[in-house]
Amino acid sequence: MAARLFCCPQPLPLPAGPMMLPVASFLWAGYKRHLSAPAQTIEVEAVGSSVTQFQPGDEVFADIGQHGFGAFAEYVSVPQDALTLKPANITFEEAAAVPQAAVVALQGLRDNGKIQPGQTVLINGASGGLGTYAVQIAKSFGAEVTGVCSTRNVELVRAIGADHVIDYTHEDFTQHQQRYDLIFDIVANRSISDYMRALRPGGHYVACAFNPTALFLGPLLSFNGRKQASSLIHKPNRDDLAIMQELLEARKGVPVIDMCFPLREVADAMRYLAAGQHRGKVVITVAHKRV
Ligand SMILES: NC(=O)c1ccc[n+]([C@@H]2O[C@H](COP(=O)([O-])OP(=O)(O)OC[C@H]3O[C@@H](n4cnc5c(N)ncnc54)[C@H](OP(=O)(O)O)[C@@H]3O)[C@@H](O)[C@H]2O)c1
Repeated sequence: MAARLFCCPQPLPLPAGPMMLPVASFLWAGYKRHLSAPAQTIEVEAVGSSVTQFQPGDEVFADIGQHGFGAFAEYVSVPQDALTLKPANITFEEAAAVPQAAVVALQGLRDNGKIQPGQTVLINGASGGLGTYAVQIAKSFGAEVTGVCSTRNVELVRAIGADHVIDYTHEDFTQHQQRYDLIFDIVANRSISDYMRALRPGGHYVACAFNPTALFLGPLLSFNGRKQASSLIHKPNRDDLAIMQELLEARKGVPVIDMCFPLREVADAMRYLAAGQHRGKVVITVAHKRV
């Protein structure tokens, strides 16, 4: 059954079938300065008659990008296969900051980048919504991690585990002698030749932000196998969210939250994101009101 999102003053009658009607503490995490990702942390309010994996009261989180994308709302109806139990030791706000950004970083490093222990990995855009996960996930794979960010975020990126931090306002990593096994690029502000030069032989450049040259020339540049370039197209995936659940439960990763805004201030939240001064994630909170 197709999932639907809807806003309503009161919960609607629950349809039969594989639908859930979660309610309250619905949260939203921004992922791009002018856009937001459909990340939710919710408490299950009611379940459809064929739902077997969850029950009312369960605390779950999800990326509902493939189920109607999303909206700022107190209620959302989604199929059970989209949902994962929220790690018990993190708050609703923290959990809401996880689903899309963390899974994007995981898929980019693991699936595109084929990250291995001991590799040198550079994260371009290490202090933002995706980068703060990319740094921590790369460390959890045993990589030696270099984060790139501006001066005001150097200490944050170090604090979440980066072995080295490059302040892009003072230094240009593409002009250094240092070469990397893997570059995970959330900014796409350099030419493809700059990125390829910064790779070691056999290295891999992964464009997370849209980089047309990587998209169209990547297969050609990768043809001889000496260095590779690829573009990441993330797929919402409950199994990958479960991997993040384990990492968070083990405290091998922590969501970095800049600010939480109540739902009524969502316009302010969007303006704040658009200003580009945030670190990590911005979260919208919706008060839990049982009916
Ligand atoms: N491929 C996919 O499937 C997929 C999925 C989701 C999102 N995305 C992409 O991910 C991007 C958004 O990522 P995000 O949410 O992490 O963004 P964000 O929260 O706005 O973070 C941007 C990061 O870039 C850094 N930065 C800004 N200018 C820089 C420069 N000149 N050099 C190096 N770093 C610089 C910022 O550092 P300072 O704040 O310190 O300046 C910050 O760390 C978008 O392009 C979106 O399209 C891709």
